[in-house]
Amino acid sequence: MKSDSASVEEGGSMFVLSGEELTLPYGEINALISSYADNPKIERLGNRVVRSNLSSNVLIETVTQRAAYCRFGGSFVSISKDLPSLASPLEIDLSTLGKSFAVDSFSLDLEKCGELGATIKAKTKGKVSLENPDYVFDVEAIPDGRYVLGLSPNGYKEFQWKSRRPRARKFFLPSAIYPKLARCLVNLSQVKEGEVFLDPFCGTGSLLIESSLMGMRSVGVEITRWIARGARLNLIGFSLPYEAIIRSDSASSLPLTHVDGISTDVPYGRASSTKGLSTSEILDGFISAASESMYSSSQKKKFSVVMYPSTVNLEEKLSSQGNSFQLKEQHLLYVHRNLTRVVSVLQRM
Ligand SMILES: C[S@@+](CC[C@H](N)C(=O)[O-])C[C@H]1O[C@@H](n2cnc3c(N)ncnc32)[C@H](O)[C@@H]1O
Repeated sequence: MKSDSASVEEGGSMFVLSGEELTLPYGEINALISSYADNPKIERLGNRVVRSNLSSNVLIETVTQRAAYCRFGGSFVSISKDLPSLASPLEIDLSTLGKSFAVDSFSLDLEKCGELGATIKAKTKGKVSLENPDYVFDVEAIPDGRYVLGLSPNGYKEFQWKSRRPRARKFFLPSAIYPKLARCLVNLSQVKEGEVFLDPFCGTGSLLIESSLMGMRSVGVEITRWIARGARLNLIGFSLPYEAIIRSDSASSLPLTHVDGISTDVPYGRASSTKGLSTSEILDGFISAASESMYSSSQKKKFSVVMYPSTVNLEEKLSSQGNSFQLKEQHLLYVHRNLTRVVSVLQRM
């Protein structure tokens, strides 16, 4: 994917990404920061660490909680070649606040964390609590030989994926995707709380579950009546609100005109019915319908995210459809020998 890394001058935030997918974690955090920061500046410090100028604690926490592929998010403290001097900018007196802290890392061993912990303890007069700290300092080694330090009052994230895995839902189909990927696809569309999110090929509702959990007004479209009913059942099963789940054909038109963001997993292969059309034909119809459904009178940037097999040439389709969308970035996901998926992020022009 294209990298728009820009250096961040001071303060801001630090995010540590999970390492299981090559480009998706950075794409996701980039999309989230871009949707919340006024004038986003995002700097990559190696593959796993990202620094940005997002500085509000509330927004840092929102981005951290929303991101599927983020392990830690907090305020940026410092960056240095020398581990002990990471603590130099710390001005807080944790003893008067009665607060405890812990130092942890995804890239450094316990001994190094302990060394830094001793320096932070001397500087802040805080108590160390490895079990239940009030503050977590995360320290990471980055490829240029430096270390970077971040601070969070909320600690590390707790993942709840298991309870939402496809087989744990009331209605199951083998084509259902896992909540982590579903959440990332929603986040790539840059929709925010209260905005209208659409999944035009919603199947069992995996993306709608994640968008509703994050506070979007979720709309699903599904051509098969009993599957649409199953998607409703799944949202109700988690006591989640949704705007509408409509039985309709997204390859010909979409029943909405002012959608804020779209993400979808287009039908292909045998696992999900394509109603006689090829994936390529479905995408043709969908792109034209999506451009009409993303009408906006304001300057707001709108994105449509599509996941499809790598055998389809989307770029060709975009130019033959009058460039109503511009390709912003692409991610490749290897599934097995015969299937690589492409996740394309399209910006409505
Ligand atoms: C790949 S599956 C989506 C799976 C979904 N992401 C999930 O996790 O359950 C694609 C869905 O699109 C539906 N579909 C096929 N053609 C359609 C069309 N023209 N309009 C709307 N839905 C369609 C299929 O019935 C199928 O449920």
